[in-house]
Amino acid sequence: MENLKKDGIIPSLAVIIVGDDPASKIYVKNKKLACEYCGIKSLEYALPAETSQEELLALIDKLNNDNSVSGILCQLPLPKGLDEEAVINAISPKKDVDAFHPVNVGKIMVGNFDFLPCTPAGVMELIALSGIEVKGKKCAVIGRSNIVGKPMSMLLLHQHGTVTICHSKTADLKAEVSQADIVVAAVGVPELITGDMIKEGAVVIDVGMNRLPDGKLTGDVEYESCVVRASAITPVPGGVGPMTIAMLMKNTVKAALLNKTK
Ligand code: GUN
Repeated sequence: MENLKKDGIIPSLAVIIVGDDPASKIYVKNKKLACEYCGIKSLEYALPAETSQEELLALIDKLNNDNSVSGILCQLPLPKGLDEEAVINAISPKKDVDAFHPVNVGKIMVGNFDFLPCTPAGVMELIALSGIEVKGKKCAVIGRSNIVGKPMSMLLLHQHGTVTICHSKTADLKAEVSQADIVVAAVGVPELITGDMIKEGAVVIDVGMNRLPDGKLTGDVEYESCVVRASAITPVPGGVGPMTIAMLMKNTVKAALLNKTK
């Protein structure tokens, strides 16, 4: 960061939040705190739920053309009536620190990318930092979302894993998961993955963030039954979540370098 400042580059992140979804508000607050911690300038655009598509797109257009803005992120989900796909498509691929734009998704697919999506990148960083090799391993990704499941599978494939993507129509989830050396759960079903489903010594990564009716936060993995069988496991909260934010900071610095004008 000091080197960037010497070159007159100040990374900045514009975060747009529309409406007042409580979970989104917490995520956005944590992203802002991380920016402050890293010395990244953060700009927050908190818009009312009644914001029109045109107003939102006009703001994105303004930020796309503002040279002082390195990265742009629009927190999802958006309130009903707003077109998420159009919003994702409107963000300049060079400022798309979420890596949700189809141009960036395509670049990931071919393995020549500027940005990696934050959560899958955070999972890969956790795996690498833990000294776990993906090459030749059987990997089960549970969930096929554009935000996590699909890009996660691609990143594991890039690291030479043999990847199975499981989803709600998978005929026998236990049969698939029990074969996997690395399990990544990103499906949004509280404690779906239980100890009896995983292979002894498996690596279990929980991307789930589910709020139970009693207010407790829980992942997609039943931690207590899996921790005794897994060789490595991430908790919720405090596992993948902080890594997602760290990768967002990394992408913002990358965006600042990519967009530097001189
Ligand atoms: N909503 C849940 N996760 C994410 C994320 O990584 N980025 C954005 N923009 N919205 C989200």
